[in-house]
Amino acid sequence: MGRHAKVLEKDNIDRRELGYYYTPNFVSKYISSRLLMLNPNGQTVLDPCVGKEELLEEFFQNNKLVDGIDVYKYKEDYRSNFIQKDFIEFYSEIKRSQNGSQMTMDNYSDVAYESKQSTDLGYDYIIANPPYNCHEVDYIKSNKSNLKELFPEVGVHNMYSMFISAIIDIAKEGSLIGLITYDSFFTAKAHSGLRNKILSECTIHEITMCPNDLFHEQDADVRTSIVILQKGKSSQSDVFVSNRPLSKGDFEIQLEKQLTNFRASNQKVYKLSDIILNNPKDGYEFIIECPDDIKSLFLNDRLGEKFKCITGISTGNDQLYLSKVKEDPFIIPFYKNPGKNRFFTKNNLYLHKDFLKFDSEIKNFMVRNKKLLYEPGITCSSMGVEFTAAKLPKDSTYGVNANIICDDHEAWWLLAYLNSELVSYLVRGILIRSNMITSGYVSRIPLININENDKTNLGHLAKEAHDKANDGESYQKLLNEINHIVNRCALLSDNTIKKIKKFNLDLIKNT
Ligand SMILES: C[S@@+](CC[C@H](N)C(=O)[O-])C[C@H]1O[C@@H](n2cnc3c(N)ncnc32)[C@H](O)[C@@H]1O
Repeated sequence: MGRHAKVLEKDNIDRRELGYYYTPNFVSKYISSRLLMLNPNGQTVLDPCVGKEELLEEFFQNNKLVDGIDVYKYKEDYRSNFIQKDFIEFYSEIKRSQNGSQMTMDNYSDVAYESKQSTDLGYDYIIANPPYNCHEVDYIKSNKSNLKELFPEVGVHNMYSMFISAIIDIAKEGSLIGLITYDSFFTAKAHSGLRNKILSECTIHEITMCPNDLFHEQDADVRTSIVILQKGKSSQSDVFVSNRPLSKGDFEIQLEKQLTNFRASNQKVYKLSDIILNNPKDGYEFIIECPDDIKSLFLNDRLGEKFKCITGISTGNDQLYLSKVKEDPFIIPFYKNPGKNRFFTKNNLYLHKDFLKFDSEIKNFMVRNKKLLYEPGITCSSMGVEFTAAKLPKDSTYGVNANIICDDHEAWWLLAYLNSELVSYLVRGILIRSNMITSGYVSRIPLININENDKTNLGHLAKEAHDKANDGESYQKLLNEINHIVNRCALLSDNTIKKIKKFNLDLIKNT
């Protein structure tokens, strides 16, 4: 499994290869101070991806016994007990030793951990900024079967998620765990295993989302959060959470304030159940600062329970089978992603007329949901931060983006609802804060109670907005009216409406 260990020249580091991004000093200080605040009396610390020891200063100053692991050696002199090792390999050896094979303390004499017949290494604090490896796909690809065995609960989706899982396993009951990490696991379906693991094995003390410019200076556009956990469930009380601030500058001020407020025990906190989407239809998503009147909407019927919410055709080679121009044999309208277009989109391509033949003859040419081919409805955006919906005309086809099949009687009011600011927030603030919006996520959008009169009004507004968009005119006034009706039907408080507007105003930074 392991990678070749190498010593790197200090000023010649290829960040992308190493997944090395240093934690800004004010963030390191915050995380370590929080851990020391929660337990001032611990003795031992581990950073399993220690880099240049950026996270450890507070622990050194407090005379803790610090161990550091990193696959790369960045400098000659470490203040921690440093061991150059792939942490995943280290973890796998611990697991093997737990299963009775030959791991001994001598293997890692530099690292002070207790050898037990369990994976618990006895540290009081574990602190980490797990690697954001661009090449993790290669690493995972070449070690897939071993890694699958090693991480049966959380899967092998990212380097960071495996790190978090391993950290939880090696933590002893009561260990504090401080992380700054990618936060795609808060909502992504693929990471439900990691969410379950955290919720069943750890206390959550804090989730502070970081601004997305935090690592921009280091050329990394990553959405990260500070997560403070404690192994074991017995310490769980209320949780501190906070949404993404707009900038690194704001964040620095925010963290200072947070520390002061924590010291004064003067911090607004949430019940654990308020920050988890725990209905049977959901997947224990972590929802940060979600107003109660929004959370209760998730008790309603979902879009997918009332309408067919489906994907269509993947060609395996769009260049070959799709054309921008309508020209025989490319004559069937094909909607792939309305992009930023709401209500109306001409963002369509043309599909080869023999596509059904290709489906039966070509292995990776797939036509899904054939029975619903050419039915009208709504086509939704897949990529991009904004969630948009446009009318899907009859006799069209579509790609792997989400499409809702319905006749015009339903399509118009639903089109208004899907383009409302409420749904933008539900999708990007709650259901999926990262990745593509697949039909699975769209089918989980809660519906709200809209009476027939309001449906008719919403329908008229959507039709008008559709025509305006078709003519290239602004439909903003109509959208305002739609938002007004939708917010009223959803029984949202003024505060919640303000919160949603604020979130949508800076969607990219807030997501
Ligand atoms: C995001 S950096 C964090 C560095 C430092 N701890 C900090 O917070 O500034 C991630 C670190 O993980 C290390 N790393 C990458 N893959 C690793 C692995 N398999 N085992 C141990 N360390 C690894 C990288 O060398 C890098 O130092």
